[in-house]
Amino acid sequence: MAHFHADRSGPTSLPCSKDINPPKKRIWYESHRMHDETLIAARPVNAFAVSFQKFFRGELLAFPVNEWVEDVYIFKFLKMQMSAAATRAILGPRIIDLNPGFIDAFWEYEKVPEILAFGLPPWLNKRAVNIRDRFGAMCRKWYELSDREFNWDGPDRDADWEPVFGSQVSKGLAQWAKDFNFSTKSISGAFALFIYGLHANAIPICTWLLFELLKDPKLFKAIKAEIKQAEISKHDSSLYFDHKVLTTLPLLQSVFTEVMRLHVGVLITRKATESVTIAGYTLPKGSIVQAPTEIAHFDEAVWGEPGHPASEFWAYRHVKEIETTDTDGRHAKRLEFSISGKTGSFFPYGKDIPAKVPLGIDC
Ligand code: HEM
Repeated sequence: MAHFHADRSGPTSLPCSKDINPPKKRIWYESHRMHDETLIAARPVNAFAVSFQKFFRGELLAFPVNEWVEDVYIFKFLKMQMSAAATRAILGPRIIDLNPGFIDAFWEYEKVPEILAFGLPPWLNKRAVNIRDRFGAMCRKWYELSDREFNWDGPDRDADWEPVFGSQVSKGLAQWAKDFNFSTKSISGAFALFIYGLHANAIPICTWLLFELLKDPKLFKAIKAEIKQAEISKHDSSLYFDHKVLTTLPLLQSVFTEVMRLHVGVLITRKATESVTIAGYTLPKGSIVQAPTEIAHFDEAVWGEPGHPASEFWAYRHVKEIETTDTDGRHAKRLEFSISGKTGSFFPYGKDIPAKVPLGIDC
């Protein structure tokens, strides 16, 4: 905490005006740069898409096709298998292998960060503190071993995936924290929080998506037909999905958007660095602005359609049918995904809180 406290330049890429440190010395600037390069850029996204599928396939092999399985709990299944695959893809396999009960410990931990951040002080919050410490100790055991074994000057530093640290973002996170002289305990805590970021939203959202598809066989069929376009065969003849195609499929995008619209509930919070006018209200410098996603995501005027109120799931809410004509004059219809003009009322990832809430007010 002392490191963060000492850096008075604020948590965004751009420093508060009072900051005089060069960007490289700013903890948050370097954190954003590290995430841009190792998490959001095309290369790490590609690498993650491939390695996640490889590990998820490994998880699925434990459930042989054509064998009867009694009582399939979808959320429980994804909480176990999807988080194991994503953890291995991002941090390498060892964090799970070293720590029996790691995935269960994570889902216990997943319930407490908010209580710890905004709830009662630690001495009145023993249970949450113990859960956090148990999971933190698992991360620490893995981090200490990995840092000892990893050759930071060797060729694996640049590898998209290697078995010690896993992905580029994992190495980037460790490197960032080491550069700012974080203690081993703090670095392990940063990893615990990162694992929280990795699973806490993505897995419940995938679960809702599956629920909606399984509830509606016609929709399920349409999605299965659509994702066929993204299938590719690798040399080892196993089936993979090309994520670049997958993420542009209109119906799948519409269902994903709809599920996030209905089920992501976050209170995005920012502080005004200067006086700002939002929706006719002038807020003085230093004001705290909170934007709850639910109000925007359920706005009837923006999202409501005849027969499909904003409060209900409708798979086709974000697609429109387009007529096309080919060079021989043949007509066809296809779906096109669009939320244009509505992005100001959709901010499940926080960050780019949009047009209606002009957050040039961070810091
Ligand atoms: C459906 C999936 C996801 C949703 C809805 C989601 C949502 C969010 C939200 C609301 C924030 C806070 C942003 C803010 O205050 O402006 C956030 C931050 C963050 N998320 Fe996600 N997230 C998802 C998936 C992921 C995944 C898969 C990862 C990692 C691989 C991830 C990594 C992060 C990180 C590192 C931050 C902090 C960013 C920063 O401070 O610069 N998220 N996410």
